[in-house]
This record gives sequence, structure tokens and C-alpha cells, in this order.
Amino acid sequence: MGEIKGMNKYGNIKEWKTKGNETEIIFENQRMIVTVINDEIINVFVPIWSEDHRSKAIEKEDYERASSKGCCVESAEKINEFGEKSVEISTSEIKLIITDGGFADFYSKDGKLISAEYRENRKPIKTLGIWEMELLRAEGHTVADTVLNKPVNDVRRIDLDERLYGLGDKMSFLDKRSYEYENWNTDDPSAHNEQYHSLYKSIPFLICKKRSYTYGLFYDNTFHSYFDLAKENPEYMAYSAEDGNLDLYFIGGGNIKKVVENYTDLTGKTPLPQLWTLGYHQCRWGYSSTKDIMEVADKFRELDIPCESVQFDIDYMDGYRVFTWNEKDYGPKGKLFKELSEKGFKQVVIIDPGTKREEGYFMYEEGTKNGYFFKDSDGKNDYVNAVWPGDANYPDFGRDEVRKWWGSHVNDLTDMGVDAIWNDMNEPASFNGPLPLDVIGHDEDRETTHRELHNVYGHFMSKATYEAMKEHTGKRPLVITRACYSGSQKYAAVWTGDNQSLWPHLAMMIPQLCTLGMCGFSICGVDIGGFGTDSTPELLSRWIEAASFATFFRNHSANGSIRQEPWKFGERTVEIYRKYVKQHYTFLPYLYDLMYEEQTTGLPVMRPLVMEYEDDENTYNLNDEFMVGDKILVSPVVNPGETVKKVYLPKGTWYRYPDGEKIDGGRYILEDAPLDYMPVYIKEGSVIPTYKDISFVGEKLPDKLILLTTPGGGKCNHFKDSGTDYSYKKGKYNLYEFEVDREGKLNLNIVNESQDVEQYSEIAINILKKT
Ligand code: GLC
Repeated sequence: MGEIKGMNKYGNIKEWKTKGNETEIIFENQRMIVTVINDEIINVFVPIWSEDHRSKAIEKEDYERASSKGCCVESAEKINEFGEKSVEISTSEIKLIITDGGFADFYSKDGKLISAEYRENRKPIKTLGIWEMELLRAEGHTVADTVLNKPVNDVRRIDLDERLYGLGDKMSFLDKRSYEYENWNTDDPSAHNEQYHSLYKSIPFLICKKRSYTYGLFYDNTFHSYFDLAKENPEYMAYSAEDGNLDLYFIGGGNIKKVVENYTDLTGKTPLPQLWTLGYHQCRWGYSSTKDIMEVADKFRELDIPCESVQFDIDYMDGYRVFTWNEKDYGPKGKLFKELSEKGFKQVVIIDPGTKREEGYFMYEEGTKNGYFFKDSDGKNDYVNAVWPGDANYPDFGRDEVRKWWGSHVNDLTDMGVDAIWNDMNEPASFNGPLPLDVIGHDEDRETTHRELHNVYGHFMSKATYEAMKEHTGKRPLVITRACYSGSQKYAAVWTGDNQSLWPHLAMMIPQLCTLGMCGFSICGVDIGGFGTDSTPELLSRWIEAASFATFFRNHSANGSIRQEPWKFGERTVEIYRKYVKQHYTFLPYLYDLMYEEQTTGLPVMRPLVMEYEDDENTYNLNDEFMVGDKILVSPVVNPGETVKKVYLPKGTWYRYPDGEKIDGGRYILEDAPLDYMPVYIKEGSVIPTYKDISFVGEKLPDKLILLTTPGGGKCNHFKDSGTDYSYKKGKYNLYEFEVDREGKLNLNIVNESQDVEQYSEIAINILKKT
């Protein structure tokens, strides 16, 4: 032990056969199944732990979508001059060569190597604290043991200049090369920085960018897993997991956009949200009464800052018991919701999975009577840990029956007037130490342990919430979750958990949200202003600017920190805040159009520049700018005291927003950025649908659309529907093709028109030109 199997992992190939798109290869010591899903996606499955995949990320319909793209599979056997055998499986795009020893190497159709396994033994380094080191020694282990003794391994060569993106919400920059990470959903309240190996989410998906080709690797395994991304050795990256199978999806495509499209074909696209959910939201843990909530809500209207919801944190529950209502501070059930909704606010409430253990409490009674909670390792007693309400049990969300039970209580909330649900503490969090790995739960009917279920706890909770809301309300659910796994984007929007009011956390927002977007999570956001510790006027101003194109757009702060509503910081902050929340609403139709397109492409709203400019090296690890779709470039100020921003504009012509200054790209510029200005540029050839003067979505939407157009004209598509339900799936939507010509004249083609969706009374053109 102490080394992974080196030159010969599984022994020589004994026999192999191909049937349809599936090839089974029998080695001396292992079996491998290769499935061609389509011409660009190939799965290599090594059944180390189970004979079947047991994927939580890929649902049947996802798989069908991906495989419906078709493939042609050819397989052949080759023997080289040393008598070594290999099996070659080719599609029209990729060739996979499996060799004696069990190595799987991927090539492009023209024979160029894309990804080969590393044949030598790893030489791990691990940064350990002195006590950790002592402990290892005392237990008779070495560093190599702890790193290498994993049953599931995949070590792949990478080029010295290969860039590595992905892995969801990790606290790090866009290019993750030279860092190491873990997938083990973690609720750690201290200030996150780039030394953190894991946060709340586990997304085992990497996008690897070589000079000549970009591809993805999706390791579908929910057990505790590790990624060394060329930290221990620049020649390779290493993946390992504590258990489970090696279930690797090689995702070709050649460029980042195609890889993201392929990955989201497989794991699902973020569904079209309700329009209001893309608007602005206010929250605080500690809005502790009706009066508090109402005052905040009224103040937003009074100050003319658009706002869709003042969200309900755990304070609204009775003693933090999930699905209860604190009548003492919030009045009779439903009354406050009614009053808020009369003022145009939607109701968004938090729920936590940890269910208080208390005789007579209906959730406890129902859960224990029906055996819906996780059990201790002996299988007899319900497992107990503690969360906000004190001693608590954990619903066993992997079972359909438990999800339905939970969902029925979600329905009680929506019946009471709740519009959206915020799932928290679902890593799951536990105040009395971590849940033991042998706690018993289920993956549907199969009994299993927390080792397998931990990283999908939030995923299953989100699925329970989403499915109940969708069926019961007929509206497009907004579920917000903190913990999740690959594929959860089908059910939930995400936020990045408990950040702090720190400048580095503002800066980190950009690569974090761009990375979540590259991993399919198109609706994502951070706590604007910072959750923990105290914000400042300057920090909050810069934060609302930088977040003003985010798809989940919420200011949230922790009990005990300084209040974080903009008016707490004076008139100047209010003005800047109003300006940027209003700017967000100006671009709302564009964000909504991007979400409409995303359902087919999987491409996020907020994108790193490298996604749009893959041939431009200056974008490869550009962490303080981002694109909104392919037309808008945003370059926020993320440092204190800075009033001039260094902006990189890729090749082409750009128009500064809103004054229309024309700027040639392909260079860095220094832009004046006083506190009330965030640099924004629109690419030549753009037509962008915008609104003017909208207070919030709940009120009647403007019936005037303004096409913000760069000089010389351009084209775009625009989608309009009810903004709430699924009627668009039955044809109730308007789809417009707009073309503005060189003279600024509009050509309009209506691709789809529905009697049920109002037409605009006016469509105007606003040419972005310096006057
Ligand atoms: C967790 C959440 C935070 C919430 C708090 C109280 O820390 O991440 O958003 O406000 O719990 O519910």
C-alpha cells in the first residue's frame, strides 16, 4: 500500500466486446464499461463499488437528451510491436484508446492527444499543520498513505500551460491550476480564502483548456473526493475518492461553450425562472418582527429602490422549528404575507432540514412515526445532532417517500402565501460535531450511509422542494440552496453561503459566480455587502455595482453585524444603491432572454471573459471582469480607495455605457471610476432589450421596450411571456427577432405570437453614441 497502482492498474486485457454504444473490457483484475453517449461524450465506468452507476446528478431525461444527439461508434483491437493490446473506440469526434494495464487515453478525431493517464506513481506533497503531522506519525501513517490510499483514482497528464476551470463554488480564482481541493460539503463560518479546500457544494466537473482543444472531465461520485490540480506535480492532475466507482464522463467539444453545453445536456439545464425572481431582494438574519420587516419594505418603496422581497430568515419560525410560524413576533399566520403582497412584495422563507426533537411537535411526530429520519449505525434509533432549534433529527431525503412528506409541508407554506423557498444548513450543518460516516440513510430503496449521502443531502432536499412547488403551484419554482451537487441546477438557484464584509470577498465574487455559471448554475449570487462582520459605505457601494448583473441579486447580513440596508450608510450610498438596482432592472429583459436561451445552451448569464474570447490569453485568468451574455463587458472596482480601474477590452470595438464613448479593444485601458461609477461596455453589433423606469416586477411591467443599440446596428431575439408559469411551453409567448440596420431603422419579425401575451405598445431604439 502507500502507492496507487502504477504501470499496470488492472492487468492486461483478456477479452472485450462491443454491443451498440457499449463496450465491455475485461482485464485480468478488473472490468470496465465504456459507453458512448454521443459523439462528444464518452463514459468510462470502472465498477469498483457497484455494478450500476447510481448517479444522483444524471436523471433519465438528461441522459436521453444527451444521447439523443446521436453517435457513431466504431471499435477495433490493436497490438503494438511489444505485443501490448489496446481497444480503440471511436466516434466522429473522439477516439478513446484503452490499453493493457487499464489506461484510458482520449484523442481528437485527427489523432492529437487530448488526455492521457499518467503512468508513473504519484509523489504527493501535502501541507500539514504541525499537530496533524504529529498525529499521522503517532498513528504510524505517512503523508503518502493519507493521500494515496484511496480506492478510486484517476491521474491524468496535462500540458504545462493547460488551464483548469470548474469545481463549482470553490473559494479561488478562475484558473485552479496549482491548487488542491476537496469535495465534502462544508459549513465553515470563518472567513473563506483561497486556502480553503472545500465549501458548501460538491461539483466534480473540470474544464481543461489546452492550447488546441478544450474538454471536460466529470467524475460522478458523491463520496469524499480530492483534486490535486497540478499542485504536487505540474505534469499531472490527480483525482481520488474515498469510495464509489470511477465514473468518468469525458466531455469533448473543443471550446468552453461547447463543453458547458455538453455537460449541461448530461446533468440538466437551469430552468427558466419567474421574472420577479431575477429582481432585487433584501434580507437579514435578525429582522425579528412584523414591524421590522414592514419598515424595511416600506423604506424601499419610499426611497424608490426596486425590491421584490424582504426575505424571512429563521426568526419567523417558532423556536426555529421548521414549518412553524412565530405568531408572537409576526402576528397571525398569513396576515403579514397578505399585507406585503398588497404592496407588491413576494414572500421568500428559509427552511432548515434539522428537525427539532420534541414530543408533540408535528414534524417530529410524523417523522419518527414513519421512520423518515436518518438512523444511528445500529439502525435502531434516529440519529441526533443539534442545529438552530437544539437537538434535531435529519430527514432521509434520498427516499422518494420522505421527499414527498417534506414536499407536503412545503405545500402548506405555499398555501399560506409563500412564493419561494430558501433551503439552508443542508450540507447538512451540525453543531455537535460532524455526522458520523456510518449514520444510515437511503438512496431510494437501497440502504446506505452518510459517506455516500453527505454530498447529495442538499441536492435531494432541493429536489423535494422544487418538485412539490412545481406540482402544487403550477408556477416556476424559485428554490435557493446552499449545499448541492452536480445536477442540482435543475432544482435550485444557489448562493455562496456565509461570506463576510471584506474586500477580498467582493473580489472573489467574480470568479466564484463565473465558475458556478460554467458548471451549469446559471442562477447564482452572493450576499451583497457581505454576510458576517460590518460593511462600510464604500464597500456596500462597490458591491451593489459589481453584483448588479447577478441573477440572484440579494443583500443579506448576519444577526449581530451592522444593519446593511443602504440607508444605514447615508444619502450618498442610497443614491449609488438606487442607481445600480435600477440599472439591474434596465437590463432585466436581457437577463431574462439569456435565461430563456440558457434552457437550450446551458450557457450562463454571467460569464468569464475566457468563455467568449478563448483565443485571447489575456482572458485566461482574468478575475476582475466578466461578460453578461456575449454583449456586455463589466469591469467592477473591487479594491478600496480605487477610483481608476484597469480594464481589459478584447479585440473589437466597444461602446462605454451609458455615455457611448467608442473605444478600440485589444488592449488595457485606464478608466475613471469614481465611487458612483462601474465601467460597463457594450460590444459593437449589439441590440439589447431594456426597460425604462420600472419600480419592481410585481407592478405592471412597462409596455415599452427600448432596444439599446450600438452604432451600425445589429440583431437580437427577445422572448416575452407570462413571466410566471409554464404556459409558454404550450405556445403562449411572443418571440421577436429584432434587426436594427446601419441607419438605425428597425426590422421586426415576430417568430411566435400569442393572444395571451400582451404586445408592446412601443418599441423604441436608443443608439449608444456619444453626443
Ligand atoms: C446560515 C445561512 C445564513 C442565515 C443563517 C441563519 O448561516 O448561511 O444565510 O442567515 O444561517 O439562518
